[in-house]
Amino acid sequence: METFEIRLSGEGENRSAALPIVHGTLGPSAVDITRLPRETGVFTYDPGFVATASCKSAITYIDGDAGVLLYRGYPIEQLARHSTFLEVAYLLMHGELPSRQQLAEFEREVAIHTMIHESLKNFLNGFHYDAHPMAMLCGVIASLSAFYHYKLDVHDPVQRKLAAIRLIAKMPTIAAACYRYSIGWPIAYPRNNLDYCTRFLHMMFEVPAEPLQLPPIAAKALDLLFILHADHEQNASTSTVRLVGSTGANPYACVAAGIAALWGPAHGGANEAVLRMLMEIGDPKNVAQAVARAKDKKSGFRLMGFGHRVYKNYDPRAAIIREMTHEVLGALGVSDPLLEVALALEEVALKDEYFIERKLYPNVDFYSGIIYKALGIPTEMFTVMFAIARTAGWVAHWLEQQTDPELKIGRPRQIYTGAASRDYVPLDQR
Ligand code: ACO
Repeated sequence: METFEIRLSGEGENRSAALPIVHGTLGPSAVDITRLPRETGVFTYDPGFVATASCKSAITYIDGDAGVLLYRGYPIEQLARHSTFLEVAYLLMHGELPSRQQLAEFEREVAIHTMIHESLKNFLNGFHYDAHPMAMLCGVIASLSAFYHYKLDVHDPVQRKLAAIRLIAKMPTIAAACYRYSIGWPIAYPRNNLDYCTRFLHMMFEVPAEPLQLPPIAAKALDLLFILHADHEQNASTSTVRLVGSTGANPYACVAAGIAALWGPAHGGANEAVLRMLMEIGDPKNVAQAVARAKDKKSGFRLMGFGHRVYKNYDPRAAIIREMTHEVLGALGVSDPLLEVALALEEVALKDEYFIERKLYPNVDFYSGIIYKALGIPTEMFTVMFAIARTAGWVAHWLEQQTDPELKIGRPRQIYTGAASRDYVPLDQR
């Protein structure tokens, strides 16, 4: 067996371990350190999990140096060109592309679960009118646990699949309801004769008083953005879903936790932050100044939509979205000065030594906001859009995890840096 020898050095020190190497089908191998504490008495220290594989997964593969992204082995560029979001969701969940009949059945299953319980609306009514939609989404999705908890046995594959479908189906209904609540519109019911993205856009923008005319490019563009955001292996929100899932919690609670993790500006919240940054820069002539600020560590400012933990090359999703941005804006007849600012910013940053040295490239969020804006999606909803798409990945990972023979509760260790043991001091002696 191939092993990795680890030996602690120092006077009188002779602890060592021969640790097995774990190989995947693609990508770097890993040292299985589970025996390390038992055999040597030491743990590993890896803040931010920079060098740690937390599980085995057959869903998504990223080669960050080459800028490659595969869902179940299929390159993202091919899926973006030929597939649809629901077909990709099926692929992520089941591991194989569906036949025509399987896809039709899956689309139908999703469609019949799009409605939400009427009393769920009461949760929305409890929010202040200016609540951020991500706060509402997180709360309302968590509250789905209250509707299904007692009927859900996470050890039953049929119930697990139903929960996954419910999440994919209800997420757009709830997302649109959060938006409509914030602007005082009545909540829209899903129209199941429409495809997933068209249905969502209708729930967002249709008013009872008149029918909605959608340009055909709108649902197509949204579907493509959803495909690109559907999964990204063990990112912060997916790892959060898995951590919560490792305790046996129900999937609605797991996905609500994933939504909370996604909201942060270092993760999915970046798409909202990018648009705000582009608006603040305002004009291509201010780009050099913004780049200088991003390089100055004391400024606390980073170029949002730039850099990635795994990609040390152009994010392949950003390349697809960049191309699509021109097509969507052209088809909608929109000319957005923010696109000029974004293109200028990318050009300057990619030629700058600071960004070249650190391999900082535009990520998936750099251009997505410009498309969402052109589709009429308000800025606060951008991360909600990400959450709708990423639900496909979250549920696929949760399903995979629940049948993992190596599943253990996620419970990291720590290096304790607090006070050593000391005696309690009574209040009047302090
Ligand atoms: N602007 C300026 N400098 C940056 C940026 C940026 N956007 N990103 C990283 N750096 C610098 C860091 O200051 C650091 O410099 P140093 O080596 O001199 O200290 C170096 O690049 C490495 O950065 P880390 O923060 O160590 O990289 P990490 O892998 O931990 O972080 C992250 C990745 C969080 C994505 C980071 O690049 C970032 O904050 N980007 C902006 C936010 C963003 O776009 N997030 C979305 C990510 S994609 C997604 O979640 C969908």
